[in-house]
Amino acid sequence: MLITASPMEYLSPSKALADRQPSWHLLVVDDDSAVRHACCEIAMRAGYTVYSADSVEAAQALLRQESIDILLLDLKLPRNNGLVLLEEVKAEQPEMVVIVMTAFASVSSAVEVMRIGANDYLTKPFALDELSMVLERAAQRRHFDAESRMLRERLRTQQGMGNIIGRSSGMEKLYRILSKVAFSTHPVLILGESGTGKELIARAIHFHGPNSAMPFIPVDCGSLVPSLIESELFGYVKGAFTGANRSKEGLLAAAGSGTVFLDEIGELQLDLQAKLLRTLQEKEVRPVGATQAVPMQARVLAATNRDLAAMVEQGQFRKDLYFRLNVVNLKIPPLRERPQDIPLLVAHFLERMQREHGIRYTLSDDVLRIFAAYEWPGNVRELENAVERACALSSGPVLHVGDLPTQVQAFHAQMRRPAMVPGAEGDAGGIAGDGVANGGGIVPIAELEKQAILQTIRQVNGDKLLAAKLLGIGKTTLYRKLKEYGVEEAGDPPPQIH
Ligand SMILES: Nc1ncnc2c1ncn2[C@@H]1O[C@H](COP(=O)(O)OP(=O)(O)OP(=O)(O)O)[C@@H](O)[C@H]1O
Ligand SMILES: [Mg+2]
Repeated sequence: MLITASPMEYLSPSKALADRQPSWHLLVVDDDSAVRHACCEIAMRAGYTVYSADSVEAAQALLRQESIDILLLDLKLPRNNGLVLLEEVKAEQPEMVVIVMTAFASVSSAVEVMRIGANDYLTKPFALDELSMVLERAAQRRHFDAESRMLRERLRTQQGMGNIIGRSSGMEKLYRILSKVAFSTHPVLILGESGTGKELIARAIHFHGPNSAMPFIPVDCGSLVPSLIESELFGYVKGAFTGANRSKEGLLAAAGSGTVFLDEIGELQLDLQAKLLRTLQEKEVRPVGATQAVPMQARVLAATNRDLAAMVEQGQFRKDLYFRLNVVNLKIPPLRERPQDIPLLVAHFLERMQREHGIRYTLSDDVLRIFAAYEWPGNVRELENAVERACALSSGPVLHVGDLPTQVQAFHAQMRRPAMVPGAEGDAGGIAGDGVANGGGIVPIAELEKQAILQTIRQVNGDKLLAAKLLGIGKTTLYRKLKEYGVEEAGDPPPQIH
């Protein structure tokens, strides 16, 4: 549709074109009727809903009535200069994309208009395909801005965003980056302690990107044995090794233009790091035993709770792969650095429990205080687990201290009697007997953590995966801790593909 403020005209874009893309509303402002009509004609053919005005005043009147997405503005207008309109628009509707037309190719005026906020400019006289290109760029930008605003809004209001909860400044910052990276295809490195929500964020990136209909494939590099990781990721050809009775496509190729999420990337062995780097650089996958590579379109997201930069320093992680993956990184802050998110998360988990059990749970005052003060070394997963466990164990709708996991109860005992060794008075459900007091009778958090881990493993008869689940920590973290304590048993954790 072409509406001109003066004189009024009406034209309708061809239906096929209008159906092809969202019809952005474009306003052409130029006092030269020949240029104005030519611009309108081209834009209309490209599928825009077009309005036009021959003066700043007419444009201002139109802008008050219509919602305009893109403004094509001649700077040299009678009476009121186009710059006035540009400044006005940028102050009042900063999301509008403005393309400025100038009659002279003066670099300084181009710099000036970009500084004031024009997104692009055309120097008169210009060729029609130049105009088409600039309009196309403007439409892309408008589309991108609209999508990221919508995504930000959804993140803020927690609607359909994979349920990422949190309004702390750390999380807000994360949402801003997330809304941008979701639309690109670069690798993203997601960093954060165990249980901070790395996988949740990876899924959000995928499911809010342009290829959300394609598969999202998580691969846990921490629990698969290296030979299995290689054949899973890259695939193999028949006869590549004993038992390879038929060829198998690797996940990097099978994902198509979807996403492969390499969880615990810090655990990947050096030779596989080299192979992954080659794959990312050349965008092709070479299956084990194959002479030919196959093209790869998948996006790769990686996550780790390890300090990759330090691992690079120590020669445990390839520097070139680190740089390749680290084009964009998302650091998820630990829960203890964003205590204001705890009540929101608890409310979210309680709501979920209410849906599942049909009971409207609340926390006792003691539990509220503990939740706010506890350090949550296992982060959101530990909090989620504590809430779920308390709901499962509680005898009524109010959750009490006795319903909390051992390590949180131990912390509570510590809070109440800082001079006592926890369990010394037979604290029900607390850590009894194993407490090791230092000088002032205070048990360091690390020691409490160790006791909680070892005791839980004992309680579940050595089932480490179950113990990790109950403790609200990742299995890789559990294995690492056991290694630190020097009590790790021989053998890899069982292979597992999600
Ligand atoms: N911001 C959040 N809002 C809601 N739930 C969250 C949030 N962060 C994490 N969770 C929940 O906490 C649990 C752990 O999250 P996730 O598995 O993504 O963590 P992780 O960082 O990958 O942990 P690990 O390093 O142990 O693998 C999941 O159940 C997830 O849904
Ligand atoms: Mg994870």
